Amino acid sequence: MDIFVDTADLDEIKEAESWGILDGVTTNPSLIKSAVESAKGDIRLEKHIEEILKTVDGPVSLEATKVDSEGMIKEAETLYEKFNPVNDNVVVKIPINTAMDKGDDNFEGVKAIKVLSEKGIPVNCTLVMKPNQALMAAKAGADYVSPFLGRIDDYIRNQIGLERGQDYPKGTYYPEELTERIRETGLRRRISELDRSDIVYQDEPTMELYDWGNDQGIRSGIDLVWSIKEIFKNYSFDTKIIAASIRTARQARSCAEIGAEIATIPFDVIEDMMDHLKTSEGMKSFDDDVIPEYKEILED
Ligand code: G3P
Repeated sequence: MDIFVDTADLDEIKEAESWGILDGVTTNPSLIKSAVESAKGDIRLEKHIEEILKTVDGPVSLEATKVDSEGMIKEAETLYEKFNPVNDNVVVKIPINTAMDKGDDNFEGVKAIKVLSEKGIPVNCTLVMKPNQALMAAKAGADYVSPFLGRIDDYIRNQIGLERGQDYPKGTYYPEELTERIRETGLRRRISELDRSDIVYQDEPTMELYDWGNDQGIRSGIDLVWSIKEIFKNYSFDTKIIAASIRTARQARSCAEIGAEIATIPFDVIEDMMDHLKTSEGMKSFDDDVIPEYKEILED
């Protein structure tokens, strides 16, 4: 599985690159905002983006911001023409559906993807929340689709009556079998400690609010990635999955088990993928046991 870092923070990108495991970068308007805010005015955005592109020899996603297809196509062309010459690695992010209110057009994203893919501009279709959206993005010619698995977990938890912060902090793993169990049994009881970091919910969750029709039975963010993978396999689409909105190392592992081609992961979660108490303990005992004769050989 390729690992992208999901950030616009140049220091994080440089550090992840120095580890030798980085394959690309994804940004979005919120990540750019946060990089600019944390630099406290000490940043020229155009230069900053060029630096990101030069730091990584892999795809870097930059997002369009308009909501109509023509506007997105124009912005995509501007981004591509301005930045792709820097290191030949720009991918333009286009939302699958830019509708914000009922009555807005639902197909502007997919129309833009179709035109851009015909023009040869690589597209990462973002904000994918259900498998049918991924299917349509692939049909329109997207090179990548980005299912937002953490946000789907949030959404399902909220639908079953959990409030972020009160019942679960950002960074807890949501096990899909829990949705299944709630659905099957209409369960009303306390479940906790399903995993190291899971305190899942406190009392009386109900599935009444959960819109099974629109979500087509998707049980978790990981389940969403799995379903998209199956669909792409059935029709041999070349479109790659970038599992996105990842909040835990366990989600990253699940994506690898499913066979997502890419996971875009926040910097601190990539760090979490590496450490283990027993590795550190093992290191300490090996370090303590180095005898002088062995040291001499190594220092020759
Ligand atoms: O890659 C998408 C990502 O930046 C969104 O993450 O944690 O805000 O849902 P999150």
